[in-house]
Amino acid sequence: MISRVLMRGGICLILSVALSAQTSSNRLSPAQPQGVADPSLDRRVESILHRMTVEEKIGQLVQYSAGQPTGPGTGRTDYDDMIARGQVGSLFNVVDPHEINKYQKIAMEKSRLHIPILFGLDVIHGFKTEFPIPLGLASTWDPSIVERASRVAAMEASADGIRWTFSPMVDIARDARWGRMAEGAGEDPFLGSAMAAAYVRGYQGSRLDAPESIAACAKHYVGYGAAEAGRDYNSTEISEHTLRQFYLPPFHAAVEAGTASLMSAFNSLNGVPSTANAFTLKQVLRKEWGFRGLVVSDWNAVGELIPHGIAADGAAAARKAFLAGVDMDMVSSLYHDDLQQIVSSGQATPAELDEAVRHVLRVKLALGLFDHPFVDEGAAAKALYHPDSIALAQAAAERSFVLLKNANGPDGKPLLPLATAALNIAVIGPVGDDSSYPTGAPQGAGPRVSLPAALAQRVGEGHVFRFKGVGILDGTDEEIAAAVAGAQKADIVVLTLGESPEMSGEAAARAHLGLPGRQQELLEAIVHTGKPVVLILFSGRPLTVPWAFEHVPAVIAAWLPGIAGGPALARTLFGEVNPSGKLVVSWPRSVGQEPLYYNHLNTGRPAGDTDLSRPPTDITSRYVSRYIDEQNTPQFPFGYGGSYTTFKYGTTTISTQRLSVAALNKGLTAEKSGDVVMTAEADVTNTGPRAGDEIVQLYIQLRGTSVAEPVRMLKGFQTVAIAPGETKKVKFELKAEAFAIWNDRNEFAAEPAQLKVWISPDSASGSGAEAEILP
Ligand code: NOJ
Repeated sequence: MISRVLMRGGICLILSVALSAQTSSNRLSPAQPQGVADPSLDRRVESILHRMTVEEKIGQLVQYSAGQPTGPGTGRTDYDDMIARGQVGSLFNVVDPHEINKYQKIAMEKSRLHIPILFGLDVIHGFKTEFPIPLGLASTWDPSIVERASRVAAMEASADGIRWTFSPMVDIARDARWGRMAEGAGEDPFLGSAMAAAYVRGYQGSRLDAPESIAACAKHYVGYGAAEAGRDYNSTEISEHTLRQFYLPPFHAAVEAGTASLMSAFNSLNGVPSTANAFTLKQVLRKEWGFRGLVVSDWNAVGELIPHGIAADGAAAARKAFLAGVDMDMVSSLYHDDLQQIVSSGQATPAELDEAVRHVLRVKLALGLFDHPFVDEGAAAKALYHPDSIALAQAAAERSFVLLKNANGPDGKPLLPLATAALNIAVIGPVGDDSSYPTGAPQGAGPRVSLPAALAQRVGEGHVFRFKGVGILDGTDEEIAAAVAGAQKADIVVLTLGESPEMSGEAAARAHLGLPGRQQELLEAIVHTGKPVVLILFSGRPLTVPWAFEHVPAVIAAWLPGIAGGPALARTLFGEVNPSGKLVVSWPRSVGQEPLYYNHLNTGRPAGDTDLSRPPTDITSRYVSRYIDEQNTPQFPFGYGGSYTTFKYGTTTISTQRLSVAALNKGLTAEKSGDVVMTAEADVTNTGPRAGDEIVQLYIQLRGTSVAEPVRMLKGFQTVAIAPGETKKVKFELKAEAFAIWNDRNEFAAEPAQLKVWISPDSASGSGAEAEILP
């Protein structure tokens, strides 16, 4: 639960963070919309269940992809008959409202019990009005913008007839090789939990049965982001401690925010595939967290238990997934084929079947689908691309950009922002050519303005020259030469380099994290012209471009910024907005550092003050945890992001130097969980020339505990608007759960410890205040 108190006319914004995701209780937060957990649904659920045959019950547990894309399990064409027989609970990838109504009509009129179909889709960062990719949205560090973006997505998708999104992806991602880093909120469980809850609130609204609300689906449960070597679908080995400390909290936050569903992941977790993992699906999710919604498998993940090696055939796969707690089978058809026999032979009980069906019916009832199964086919067009939605997408993009570097230009002042007066700009690079390209969806429609066009609106047509230079993956010497000649005619070059949208997301792992194709050559050729260069990196992950960070004066990480990316970037370049985004993943210097994350353990041989910029020269500089050919530190740390102004942080002060284990443990109980046990404050001064928003972060470290704790853990953040010359006192209120840990018995509790608290601009700077947790 995150509560925000704005002290109007006072000194500061207070963000008090009580991360219920980190408690071990399964209480519901009072603010939680009842939605799928609403006990008043139970009577209707039971009355429907009572009338169902076994075949109809199994039907509710079956889902098919009735539209694109194709793949395993999508070969069926007899959906009409199956729906009429009550054999389909959900369809997805159907996006035409007329077709949705057609299928729904069969369910409502021809099937015996008239149980509506639940229509789903991957609505990931907007439905039609496309927002920045989730990694970009998270870089705003603003849950309210994520909530509003998801609300727009829900309004547009529901107007189209889609009432279930397979989003948010709340997987912790520590390895930029993994392409799906793009779809999540990065490496930190605290920030990830705040974002997870915000997505759920946005999709589901205050009432799940409102026609414009859609059911959320937190995915991929669990550990998928830890795929070994960053290779998608690869196995994961995560201790229970690490699972509880890092990977589970965003899912718990989604559950506490009322998510209607979860998706079980593809990966095997400590040898047991997540889609057959009773520990995570039953023990943690149902018993500890009290989740009452629906668990759907990922695409064919039930069938994939066979290649995983834990099922000899389809029937064994269906049995294992079902008994572990997967309610709905996405596309494999194995529940349809085998569940009846599994129940009739006594391998699963009728009660277990009923319980899975309850989870599905509860979501359908909570959505109000029984009462309002059809979509108004004329409504969709009116709901899409509303100007307010596009304006929000632009605001989100503006706040998602991370200014990585802004050194001085030829006039001895920071190169950015650009002055509008009489500039000839060469926009060079494979990205930004086509107005839809940097958005994350190459086929995206809707009103889009490309970056060159948005720049031309400011400096005038005829003052913006466009050269592709090279393609994303290819290019010729002639193209590079033409771009160099173009650069020579300009006053400034805006270089737009990076990845195509297909290079991140699912099945887009990369072993090399540099610029693809010949883009590095283009970069160097352009920089060697001596013209001032602003590099805009478009990507679904951080890219290792150390040469650029050394030689290019200004670099912006723009991620894949969505439908309004062009205008948002133009406004940023010209200083109409001051960038405020900060990194939610550690930016590596080289791929060999991955997985790289700020909240790591210290090791027994930390590098400390050792100079890691040169190879070890003696025993002292060698036998520490380090590389002999690379630094340990990232290029840019988690939490880092620049601004056109500068901020100075004062000393962190805390309200008490002594906390006690007993008082903290009491604070973890339901009655005391709202109590503040410590406040921390620091002055933040805007020492530069412009107004700016600063994302202020609070970290803690605990030492002396039964289990080694990370060097720092984020426990709070807030965005503060500060005028030039102004100082704001930024205050954080910390509750007991900020100081509790998953101990050596995997219980969430406080322990005696030395404590350090930092209020800092990122995860790598600041001087902390010290305190103690007494026994
Ligand atoms: C597979 C992906 O892993 C998952 O995230 C997605 O929701 C499903 N396909 C459905 O498209």
